[in-house]
Amino acid sequence: MRDLVDALRSHLDAAMSELGLAREDWEGLLAGSTDSAFADVAMPCHSLARVLRKAPVAIADDVVDLLGSSTAGLCSVSSVNGFLNFTADEEWLAMRMEESLADERLRVAAEESRVIVIDYSSPNVAKHMHVGHLRSTVIGDALNRMLSFKGHSVVAENHVGDWGTPFGMLIEHLIDIGVDTPAEEIDLGTFYSDARAKFDSDSAFADRSRKRVVRMQANEPETIAHWQMLVDRSLLHFNDVYQMMGVLLTDDDLAGESKYEAALPGIVEKLGEVGLLEESEGAKVVYPEGWTNREGEPLPLIIQKADGGFNYATSDLACIIDRIENVGSRDFLYVVGAEQAQHFAMVFQVARSAGFMDEAVNAIHVPFGLVMGTDGKKLASRTGGAVRLKDLLVEAVERADAIIAEKNPSLPADERAEVAHMLGIGAVKYSDLSTDRTNNYTFDWEKMLSFEGNTAPYLQYAHARICSIFAKAEIERDSIRDASISLDHEREAALARALIAFPEALDSACAIHSPHKLATQLHATAQAFASFYESCPVLTSEGQTKQSRLALCDLTARTLETGLSLLGIAAPLRM
Ligand code: ARG
Repeated sequence: MRDLVDALRSHLDAAMSELGLAREDWEGLLAGSTDSAFADVAMPCHSLARVLRKAPVAIADDVVDLLGSSTAGLCSVSSVNGFLNFTADEEWLAMRMEESLADERLRVAAEESRVIVIDYSSPNVAKHMHVGHLRSTVIGDALNRMLSFKGHSVVAENHVGDWGTPFGMLIEHLIDIGVDTPAEEIDLGTFYSDARAKFDSDSAFADRSRKRVVRMQANEPETIAHWQMLVDRSLLHFNDVYQMMGVLLTDDDLAGESKYEAALPGIVEKLGEVGLLEESEGAKVVYPEGWTNREGEPLPLIIQKADGGFNYATSDLACIIDRIENVGSRDFLYVVGAEQAQHFAMVFQVARSAGFMDEAVNAIHVPFGLVMGTDGKKLASRTGGAVRLKDLLVEAVERADAIIAEKNPSLPADERAEVAHMLGIGAVKYSDLSTDRTNNYTFDWEKMLSFEGNTAPYLQYAHARICSIFAKAEIERDSIRDASISLDHEREAALARALIAFPEALDSACAIHSPHKLATQLHATAQAFASFYESCPVLTSEGQTKQSRLALCDLTARTLETGLSLLGIAAPLRM
């Protein structure tokens, strides 16, 4: 518990110096306890034993004696097996709760603002978005919201795959089916594979396709017009998915590979000037130091292929320069699957050796694991192909609708549709965001839509339940924001201990770019609320107790609502 650690430092100073210890000897040992039922902050004294030539148990005992009653009103202190355990006093907790209650930002401080580029979603033109783009979109969007809330100026960049050799065959295929085909009538489900099949079986088509790439790279207006049509068709689809998901991305955030196309020859030139460029079988490559393949041979990063075409890595290098020079950012997050770890490590290394970015630039790959099916294999459609993201989202909403219809049959149809959307999409997002992103996670409909466990519906339900307490009693939520809070019941105190961790959980989620740190705190809060509500009557209590409990309810609802919204998840008022 960060706040308690902060408050404790000055209290410990006197006692510790009495023992002959300086702040740097012990400060690092003060840490939030993982077992909050036991203590809020624990401090192991074992490493001090060597310095003081005394047993850890004796040191902890001494500190307890020296502190005496000096921490009264802040925390109680005990010595257990060489650990100092500090447990916050209810009065101190109650004061923090009152501060949160009166604070629109729930005690979340803003940081000194940085311009942070987040590269996320990044689907490929002329194809459907599939489940592989789900995680990047969901995690990237949550990071966007969390870092913006912390006061940063976030620049979302959707690095769509909209350039490169496959566009030769895609454009020729478009010409074959008729360039006048209305964009809505192009089926992205089959377009790419149809083009690919022709390319592989029809050598005349393959020939035309190769020539088309050259015309595209020469920016021939007619070819670019056809290309634009494919891009526009794909954007209709991407935006449809984004709207359904409720993510922040708009067309203004597009920064596709084509955007960097004009800068690519310059990259080759610059790499040549600094002496990094080498020839390998006609291709221009860089051998970043320390990278070898299985045979122990140096591993190249291909910059320009033998046919003159540029590579994925080349546009990422151009992109780095653009982000520094034009976007004005020194912090880049790339929310891309773990399978691209090597690509990014090599690109970053080459960018550093070439002097494209210096130490002041933080380029971070934010990787994530796979989406697995309940069968333990990578999630696939019934036919074995990649699952279309849109289908998944539609199913989520349908399933949520059926659940709401059963749980709350009296909810009017239009409201039910709205709630089903929030629940279904929320469930999909939350099941992703609540697991450590570096792990694979299992896409399990039953589990993610359950009203029990660490799920979106569980958190959304806790929020709606609180809203209905206020609605039932016809009490305005903001009428109790200056109430005084007392934590006399142990479950009131336990709820406060969960709530106080909100700013800290958000900070640690931002620090490691892992929204699950926040999700864990929200879940703990909803659980603590459930046990509080079980034992502490709210509306039937009286006087000061009622005010205090209403205030705790309001604070819980606002914490859940704010936390969920930072994860990109809506919280209905009733469900
Ligand atoms: N379009 C790529 C894919 O679908 C992801 C691009 C990620 N971003 C980047 N700057 N390389 O795999």
